[in-house]
Order: sequence, then C-alpha cells, then structure tokens
Amino acid sequence: MASARWPCLVLALLSGLAASGFPSHPVQLLRKRSLQEGVVDDIEIYSTKISCKVTSRFAHNVVTTRAVNRADKAKEVSFDVELPKTAFITNFTLTIDGVTYPGNVKEKEVAQAQYQKAVSQGKTAGLVKASGRKLEKFTVSVNVASGSKVTFELTYEELLKRHKGKYEMYLKIQPKQLVRHFEIDAHIFEPQGISMLDAEASFITNDLLGSALTKTFSGKKGHVSFRPSLDQQRSCPTCTDSLLNGDFTITYDVNRESPANVQVVNGYFVHFFAPHGLPVVPKNIVFVIDVSGSMAGRKIQQTRDALLKILEDMKEDDYLNFILFSGDVTTWKDHLVQATPENLEEARTFVKGIDDRGMTNINDGLMTGISMLNRAREEHLVPERSTSIIIMLTDGDANIGESRPEKIQENVRNAIRGRFPLYNLGFGHNLNYNFLESLALENHGFARRIYEDSDANLQLQGFYEEVANPLLTDVEVEYPENAILDLTKNSYPHFYDGSEIVVAGRLVDGDMNNFKADVKGHGAFNDLTFTEEVDMKEMEQALKEQEYIFGNYIERLWAYLTIEQLLEKRKNAHGQEKENITAQALELSLKYHFVTPLTSMVVTKPEDSEDQTSIADKPGEEATSVTSTAYIASYQPPQTPYYYVDGDPHFIIQVPEKEDAICFNIDEDPGTVLRLIQDPITGLSVNGQIIGDKGSSPDPKTRKTYFGKLGIASSQMDFQIEVTTEKITLWNGDAPSTFSWLDTVTVRQDGLSVTINRQKNMVVSFGEGVSFVVVLHQVWKGHPVHQDFLGFYVVDSHRMSAQTHGLLGQFFHPFDFEVSDIRPGSDPGKTDATMVVKSHQLTVTRGSQKDYRKDASVGTKVICWFVHNNGEGLIDGVHTDYVVPSLF
Ligand SMILES: *[C@@H]1O[C@H](CO)[C@@H](O)[C@H](O)[C@H]1NC(C)=O
Ligand SMILES: *[C@@H]1O[C@H](CO)[C@@H](O)[C@H](O)[C@H]1NC(C)=O
Repeated sequence: MASARWPCLVLALLSGLAASGFPSHPVQLLRKRSLQEGVVDDIEIYSTKISCKVTSRFAHNVVTTRAVNRADKAKEVSFDVELPKTAFITNFTLTIDGVTYPGNVKEKEVAQAQYQKAVSQGKTAGLVKASGRKLEKFTVSVNVASGSKVTFELTYEELLKRHKGKYEMYLKIQPKQLVRHFEIDAHIFEPQGISMLDAEASFITNDLLGSALTKTFSGKKGHVSFRPSLDQQRSCPTCTDSLLNGDFTITYDVNRESPANVQVVNGYFVHFFAPHGLPVVPKNIVFVIDVSGSMAGRKIQQTRDALLKILEDMKEDDYLNFILFSGDVTTWKDHLVQATPENLEEARTFVKGIDDRGMTNINDGLMTGISMLNRAREEHLVPERSTSIIIMLTDGDANIGESRPEKIQENVRNAIRGRFPLYNLGFGHNLNYNFLESLALENHGFARRIYEDSDANLQLQGFYEEVANPLLTDVEVEYPENAILDLTKNSYPHFYDGSEIVVAGRLVDGDMNNFKADVKGHGAFNDLTFTEEVDMKEMEQALKEQEYIFGNYIERLWAYLTIEQLLEKRKNAHGQEKENITAQALELSLKYHFVTPLTSMVVTKPEDSEDQTSIADKPGEEATSVTSTAYIASYQPPQTPYYYVDGDPHFIIQVPEKEDAICFNIDEDPGTVLRLIQDPITGLSVNGQIIGDKGSSPDPKTRKTYFGKLGIASSQMDFQIEVTTEKITLWNGDAPSTFSWLDTVTVRQDGLSVTINRQKNMVVSFGEGVSFVVVLHQVWKGHPVHQDFLGFYVVDSHRMSAQTHGLLGQFFHPFDFEVSDIRPGSDPGKTDATMVVKSHQLTVTRGSQKDYRKDASVGTKVICWFVHNNGEGLIDGVHTDYVVPSLF
C-alpha cells in the first residue's frame, strides 16, 4: 500500500502557538500554474463541502475537503478552516486512501505532552491560531503519497447569539484554487418559524452569483445553498485563480409574536426569551475615556467621532456625563445631566475638544465615574425607574496612581457592589485584556476589544447600540422548585433590545406533562412577569416532524452553554473554587467532545496508539456571555360576573338580587365607537369599536357585528390600554409597550395589574375593587365570513363611583325591574313578558346568551330577558347617545 508518512497534526487554537518554526504553507508559497485546472502544485482539491445544520440557534457545521496528490512523489497537503472564536471543535478526522484516523478529545495536559514530543521530533505540521476579529484558524498539513487521496473532515458547533435583531453565521471561504465541487449547504430549523433569512458573500455581489446562490425559507425551515461552478469561481473569465476569498454570511431571525419559546427534548430544555415592543428604560450613562498619550492621533480622533455619533442617538430621558482620565481625572459636569438638546449641544463641544495628554490612571477614572453614578442615585438626581451603566474605554495599562490590577478590581468591586454593570472596551492590543475582562465580568458587564483599524469608530458605535436600549432590568428566570437541575445562568442585569436571553437545564422528571417558567423584570414603567407554559406532548409532536434535527441538540446546547459560562466564571475564580469549576468544565468538555481551553483534539493512528500527535486547542479571550429565558401564567376567572358584552354585541346585565339577567343588542355600523363605561370620579373609561364580518351585509337585520377594539383608560394614572384581536398596547403617557395575544405576561405598576393569558383573555385590575376581563374569540383564519372579536366582562366594579355611566356602567348602581304577564311570544316557541324598569313598561322576550369567560369556544349559557330595539327603555336616553368619536 502506498502509505503516507504518518501525519503530525497540531490543531492548536492557541494564539500563543502561532509561533515560528512551523513549515510554511506549501500551497501558498509554491503556487504555479498547472496545465490541469484546479490543480495547484500537483495537488488537486476536487471537493469542498461546508454543511451546516442549525436547530434552534445551535449550529452544527461539517467542513469536508477531498484532495488527491497528482505528483509522482509524496507531497504535503494543507487544510485550512477559519471558524468563529465562539465555536467549539467537536471532531476531526483524516482519511488517507480509505483509512480513517479519528479524532479524540483529551485533557489538555495529556495532549500537550504529545504535542511537545511531536514538536521536538520535528513532526509538527499544523496548528490553530487566532485569526482576525471573530475567527480563529485551524490548519493541518499532511504528507500524502503519490496518487493518494486524502479527506479532511472538521466538525464544529456553536450557539448563534442574537445581536441587533438577528443571528449571524460566518463562514470564511478561501479555497485558494478552483474546486470542481464547491458547496455550502445550510439547513436551518427554528420551531418558532423563520421571519427573515439572508445570505451574502463579501467577495462578490449577489447579482453576479446568479444561480450559484439560492436562499429560501418558509415556516420553520430555511435553506441556503451556494454552489459556484468552476467558471463562476474564476476571478476573471480566463483566470485560473479563485474569486472565492472572504466571508460568506448567513443571517436570519425567528418570529417574535411570542416573547419566549421553550423546547424540551429527551429531558433537557432550552428557554429563549426576547420580548419586544416594550419602551426603553432610561439610562444613566457615564463614559470613562482614556486620554493618555498613547491615544494620540487616530485613536483619539476615532473616539471623538464615535462619541459624537453616540450623542446623536442619545434619548432625551437619558442622563450622561464624561470622565476623562490620563495622569489625572477631569469631568465634563460635576454630576450627571439630562440629555436635553441644549446639554447635548454642550456635550458635542466638549467631545470635539477632547485631547490626549500624559499617563494612564484607570483607577481614579473609574472611581470618579462610579461615585458619580452612586451619588446620582442616592440624591435622586436621576429618575427612579432608570438604569445605570458605566462604559470605560482604554488603550493601555494603568501606569500611575493605583496600578496593581488586583487592587483596582477590589476598589471597583467595592464601589459598584453589583448595582450596575461595567463595560470595558480595550482599544488595540497594547493592553492587559484579561484584566479588563475580569474587571467587567465581576461587575456584571463584559469586555470588548476594539481593533485598531479604520472602522474603530464604527466598532465603538456598534457596541453602544447593543447596550443603548435596555427594555428590562434585573431579569430573573424562574422555574418550579425541585423540577429543574443543572440550570445555566438565569439572572441578567439587563435585557437589551435585539438580543436574547437563553437558559437551558435538565428536568428532574422526564415524564412531566407540563412545564412552567416565569421571567420577571423591571420595565420602563412597570414590573413584568412573562409566563410560559409548555405542553410536553404537543411539543414532542411538533419537534418530531423534523428529521434533520440532530436528536440531542438541546442537550448539546445545554452543554455548550454550561461550559461557556463555567469558563467565564473561571476567569474570576481562585483556589479551590477555580479547581472545582475547572473540573466541571473539563468533565463536560470530555463527555460532549468539545475542544475548549481545557481540552485538545488528538488524532489517533489506529494501528499505533502511541504515535498519536494531533492537537486542537482553543485560545482564551472574548468568550462572550449568553443569556436566556421563558414563561407561563394561568388565570382563574372570578366567580361572580355581573355585566358584560360579547358576541353580536350582546349586553348582559346580571341582577343577582333577582337571580335573573337582562340583555340587549346594539346594532351600529362597523367603525362606530360606543361608550361602555365612564366614571368621572375614578377617571376610568372603557370604549369599544364595532367591526363587521368579512363582506358584511349592509342590512342591520341580518348582519353580524362585534367589538374588534377596546380602549381602557385611567386619566388619573395617565394610562391607556388598547386591545385589538391582534395585539395589546399599553400606553404610559406617550410611551407604548406592545404585547401580542401569544404572550402570557403580567404587567404591574402602582395599583394596576394587567395579565394577558395567551390566546385566551386579559385581566385588568385597578387596585382592589375594579377588575375587567377581555376575552379573545379566535375563528379559523381562513373562515370566509367570520373574523376574530373581543368580549368585555366587568367582574368587579365596587370601587367605581355612583356617577359611573355608559352602556354597561349605568347598571353598576343597584336598580330594580319587575317582570309580569309571561306569555307565548310573537315568535313561535319564544316567551314574551312585560317588564317594568326605570319607569318604563317594555315587552321583553326570554332568550339566552353565553358567558365565555372560562372558555372562549364553548361558553356557559345565561338565560336573560331580551330588551328589543337597541335596549330602548332600559338604557338611559337612546343608544346613539353612547356613540363617541374615538376610542380614547
Ligand atoms: C467523528 O467523525 C467521524 C467521521 O464522520 C465519525 O465516524 C465519528 O463517529 C465522529 N466522532 C464523534 C465523536 O462524533
Ligand atoms: C466543589 O464542588 C462540590 C460539589 O461538586 C461542592 O460540594 C463544594 O462545595 C465545591 N467547593 C467549592 C470551594 O466551591
């Protein structure tokens, strides 16, 4: 057998290993034009396939390259893959002439020894190293005998994180030669449904890719395929070098009708939480900016540019200040000031004047910023419901004042005491990034590197945009006690718009039928609790339909997240605790075959297990944190309803003293708004807008009308709720929060509480004594005639004043009626009677209506006396007196 010399592989993801002494890349150095297409330096790479499967944000990517040595002697063949820093390699195999050498994940020390041995024997032929901002490079070279074929297969996995409203998957493409069969094939499956999907290549416009690129999505599935022909790969029509060189990026997002989604498979669950439509919580933000001498020139210019842009995006409710530090500390203002147009103008002038000088006193810069934020809070200089953030930018290490990193960490920790997050931006590479990262992590923030480049200002702005819109603060994700094990991080200081919180864990009892979770947080105006209830049977059914889900994806996602968070925690741990965390992370890395900073990949030569020499390591830096969340709520309808309106608006007035009820209809044109309740004393009002059926008949006798929109307002609280069959909008003054009927959420503010029960009803309580329920009636979307509508129930009105009026409100006061002369009605089979009410004598008919509070589809029958002609004689005045111009 033409045997290849045993390949010596070092798949080290350690930037520190990117040292000299490795063989230089033969393909790059010795490129020469071959007579045969797609053959460079006698090596033909005839196939490269990148196959991606993404299930619920968890990506499983396999890169396979096949090559043949066309030379008449042994040659070195290289395989390069650039993969995201946040990914973990999970497998690598090498197949030479049909013999497969599998990869195994081993504890790093073990693998490292073999690596050292290989290096000392001059056998090392590959490595993995940091490459660019988001990627790291995996490189392997093997010697292949003349005429032999080699297949490289690398597998890596990662949890895609949501930034600015989308998930992004980067694939770096750089085949270096024309490849007969080049293909990217990505399948995305998202149980929430895909709302957008795009793919683009940095090296060519999508128009020029033509038929080579297809991207489609529908429902839960998305597909991207990129298969450029040999001709499409050429950099020019007569060229033999490849145009493919750059990023291929797939972006997508999922449907957001529901703020949360929980998935359970094989006893593991994952909970995604990303509410939207909530008002932004005002920020108190202090920028602590390094203006030391090393910032001189382009860096300070870019910082000024970025800060000016950030000032443009500042909201008027925000408070801000700037602190500049070099050898000493200067502040723009003595205390935080509101972002009024005048103050922003002044801030711009200040920012334009920022200049570099002197040394780097990080400690004093930070301490000034922290005490300013603390003071603002203590002295109530900033709004009660606001959140504080401190952002520090530096390009170097502390070199004056307190410059010991441990001491700075201690000072900062003691000053912040968990009250707000610190974000550290490290500009360039001339700094102790680990220190900045530790410092930020232990103060509930994170660190980012700003790469010294022409776009550094954009990087700074980009970071600010991520934290600019907190929708919730102090987010806690809660599960039933004793039901959950091995939970990943479940509390987060902020939920930022466009991001996502992800929590995963294990169920104690795999046979549970139901599963509940609450997410609690503070919003701009109110406290919210989102509740998610998961029906396991339903879920199993829904997830089963997918063949291409890799069965244990939730378990792997959980393992990925757990390891990532353990590694982050490890950065700030010491002694026994650190050993503990390390042991846990190592055990999981080995169990789930993840190449992490604690493990390495070793490729084993089957016949000689001693001579195994292949390592993949992972470099540190910038493990970003992930978040998570989910919910459920349930509501028990109160027992004694008195007044409601539902159906073709049927008004029902129950009179408990009589153990009887009165009902009437109002026939008005679609679009009409009717006053249901108005109380001048409490300031509460409820109006409803009428809708018709689809293609409704204009004849009032036969047409059906319903309430399609309700407006509930409290003038005292400056609060309004608009309910439609699609969504619910809460207005605090001018600021809207929007929810969908797919949410289960409770909003609390002062005495007010609003609970939406997914696709069923909504309960609004104004303290004790006033409580309404809005019932959602949903019909089949494709129904030719009917459409969704709302029912409105007053379940408690005892705190409303005696002056309350409106079609329902006028009946809140005690009133009496007498029924006599019960007789066969004018309609066969019906019973008529004479009713005396409000000093009128009316002919009424026995009928029945339904109460749908408990079940919107079935309803409970309520027998009532029907008052004809739009309630004439029963209601005060005539029904048109209750028509109002608008919902509020
Ligand atoms: C690694 O990949 C090889 C080839 O596809 C496969 O046979 C093997 O089972 C994989 N190993 C693991 C741990 O997934
Ligand atoms: C280490 O872990 C064990 C259980 O895994 C725990 O009981 C112990 O308290 C931990 N020790 C420290 C110092 O964290």
